[in-house]
Amino acid sequence: MTDVSYDAIVLGAGGAGLMCAATAGKHGRRVLVVDHNDEPGRKILISGGGRCNFTNLHTAPDRFLSANPHFAKSALGRYRPQDFVDLVERRGIAWHEKTLGQLFCDGSAKQIVAMLMDECVRGSVVFAFGQGVAEVSHADGRFVVRHDGQVSSAPSLVIATGGPSIPKIGATGFAYDLARQFGLKVVEPRPALVPLTLGGDDVLFRELSGVATEVVARAGKAAFREAALFTHRGLSGPSMLQVSSYWRHGEAVTVDFLPDAPRDWLRAAKRATPRGSVKAALGTAVPARLADTLADRIGLVGDLVSHKDEALEAAERLLAAWAFHPNGTEGFAKAEVTVGGISTAELSSQTMEARRVPGLYVVGEAVDVTGWLGGYNFQWAWASGVAAGQAV
Ligand code: FDA
Repeated sequence: MTDVSYDAIVLGAGGAGLMCAATAGKHGRRVLVVDHNDEPGRKILISGGGRCNFTNLHTAPDRFLSANPHFAKSALGRYRPQDFVDLVERRGIAWHEKTLGQLFCDGSAKQIVAMLMDECVRGSVVFAFGQGVAEVSHADGRFVVRHDGQVSSAPSLVIATGGPSIPKIGATGFAYDLARQFGLKVVEPRPALVPLTLGGDDVLFRELSGVATEVVARAGKAAFREAALFTHRGLSGPSMLQVSSYWRHGEAVTVDFLPDAPRDWLRAAKRATPRGSVKAALGTAVPARLADTLADRIGLVGDLVSHKDEALEAAERLLAAWAFHPNGTEGFAKAEVTVGGISTAELSSQTMEARRVPGLYVVGEAVDVTGWLGGYNFQWAWASGVAAGQAV
């Protein structure tokens, strides 16, 4: 078997791996990218409903979860959303801001993959797609990768194989296996940006499948004001996906169903329309089916006037902090990302290189850095990929 040598081998042709390879290639490095999928960037292709929410204008370190909240600052500070927008614009890819700083392609996510591949080609990057990695070894300052009957070696190896969310498109926990092989700590990976499932007393809400309403959802110290969607299994929609990243088993998720309601609004409704029903009053602020379920659950049926002010006041408090007790999540099969991953304590925040294994780098979702919903995760993929690509 012949050993083909490179300056760097990148494992994984997702956003982070391609960005890293293109950056290194354009700096004159000879780079090989290996991926077991036949095509690169499959998560990019399905992202943002096929339009790829490729960055967020409000990118800031506090929108990322990590055991070390400072770790992402360096890479994010050196490669900013505007840098990626400049790249997209140089390629004539039309884009728009949808909401909350989220930038999407006007056309298709395929344009982003094609752009990244083209950047790699400009850097003379070599591709080995559809090739599983059989073995990685390290001796005498070189990493040796056996893939599909070939042997490639390089003084630098970049782990860019992402996290285990959505295994059906080729996602694996391979990054963690490699981390363990090289003695790097892994922060327990958990599914994140994932729908929450309801059971027990909350199962009634599953009957509201398809109903959406704007709420403030809270888990721990995190709070997100966005839409919530009831599903046949539990809770989804942007606000719930966001809090899922912070939620821990056994904890409650609290929901303010009426974030814009003034204090005493139910008592005011009683004064204005005493013969109006509680359901009708609630239905002015939330969808009718949800209003019915909430009124039934609080036990306030019939006319407003038939309820004491104290009962209405208690109902207002309940509706402002409704406690759901999810019994789980829909797991890695449905999670957009993974919280946790290879510990940032093992890595240089400047270069993403493992402190204890010179020449070994980790980028993208494989690292214990996870962004909010809304383009933050791709911005981390680009920024960490560039940081390592400049260093290899
Ligand atoms: P990524 O998972 O993209 O790439 C890893 C690569 O490694 C893959 O090509 C895989 O085939 C390969 N690989 C894995 N195991 C291997 C092995 N053993 N051997 C060889 N190759 C292996 N984010 C965002 O910012 N905006 C958005 O719009 C969305 N939308 C979205 C939708 C959906 C449905 C999902 C699942 C995720 C998103 N995300 C997102 C999250 C985003 O897709 C994610 O954070 C990045 O793709 C992570 O990029 P990486 O390059 O780190 O991993």
